[in-house]
Amino acid sequence: MAARDGLSVSPPRPLDVNYDEAAVPAYTLPDALSCSDGKRAATTKLWFERRRPELLAAFAREMYGEAPREGWTLQTDRARTLHVPLEGALRCEWHFEVRTSEGRLPGTLLVWAPAGATEPVPVFVGLNFFGNQSVHPDATIEPARGWVPNNPEYGLSDHRASDASRGCHAHRWPVADIVRRGYALATCYAGDFDPDFDDGFRNGAHALFPEHRATAGDGAWGAIGAWAWGMSRLLDVLEADDRVDLRRVIAIGHSRFGKTALWAAAQDARFAMAISNCSGRGGAALSRRAFGERVRHLNERFPHWFCGNFRRYGDREAKLPFDQHALLALMAPRPVYVASASEDLWADPQGEFLACQAAGAVYEALGDRGADSIGYHVRPGVHDITAFDWAHYLDFADAHLWTSHRQSRRLLR
Ligand code: GCU
Repeated sequence: MAARDGLSVSPPRPLDVNYDEAAVPAYTLPDALSCSDGKRAATTKLWFERRRPELLAAFAREMYGEAPREGWTLQTDRARTLHVPLEGALRCEWHFEVRTSEGRLPGTLLVWAPAGATEPVPVFVGLNFFGNQSVHPDATIEPARGWVPNNPEYGLSDHRASDASRGCHAHRWPVADIVRRGYALATCYAGDFDPDFDDGFRNGAHALFPEHRATAGDGAWGAIGAWAWGMSRLLDVLEADDRVDLRRVIAIGHSRFGKTALWAAAQDARFAMAISNCSGRGGAALSRRAFGERVRHLNERFPHWFCGNFRRYGDREAKLPFDQHALLALMAPRPVYVASASEDLWADPQGEFLACQAAGAVYEALGDRGADSIGYHVRPGVHDITAFDWAHYLDFADAHLWTSHRQSRRLLR
């Protein structure tokens, strides 16, 4: 794919990249607990009343952009429920449509839940790259209706989902393992909310809110903002699904959708837990670390992901009023899990680990389980999400979700 056509999943990587740990210059992280007036939010009350809202607003204004807060309705219809004996699951597709005075945005949420469950179960919610048909070989799963990125590897062409992509990402979604452990899995094509290319914000959810962009200007939402907003809409859709327990919803995402999962769960307290898989720069990795992808690269290669204000920070990361440990801390005291892959140096595994470590100060200040609510692993191998990663996420969810959600929801309401 040509670098400048803006239509492939990722343009080629730049050559001016540092992969030498010894060459990473020193940097200082902003204290996540310090309010803008210098006061330290060392108590739960101060954190939730002052510092947390301040940080959330800063991430929206400077990085991911502000999403509209109102002005839409959501229509949900159950399309089909099928019993899938092989997976021990009941599979259901929910058609939904977001409507504003400017137009309609249709989408499909695909949900597997354990067939034998006698009560609502916790659910993983995550966006996929190429359409619901790509996450499982099942020939009856409806293909993505809208624009999908070209990717010759999967035989996609003309920006329409083709059968060649059916199941091409199945290894990333081990449905049978998840269902066997007593969890549901819900996924939706990210392009249902915003196709992943730079079109000046004329498509997807952006097109439904033109006045919002006019008012918010350089602080208006980019694609990650629209995907994160979409994750919250998926929670709204799930309200109709009595197989899942809405108090135990886990936001999960790989790579750009790991960035998205973190931002979605930071904003929406209905997510009881967040998982970032290889989210890298712009996600869990500290922006100030000059290692692998940099803020400048993000802005150059994916100008549509973040808000206009974020462009100011290319090569000026030290000017950011926060770093990504504070994004993780916005989850506190809800559990958050970050995973890296040892060969995924572009995503800066060490920067992801250091962000988790630095977020610990906020978790400790809030008591509860302290920094034990932050999970991390680095797996041998490349940029991907594997059954090994999922096994750890399921263990972490088992250990944390059954006790922590009540307190978190009380604090964040
Ligand atoms: C590119 C991009 C990363 C992103 C990744 C992905 O590599 O530079 O920031 O995480 O694509 O989403 O797969």
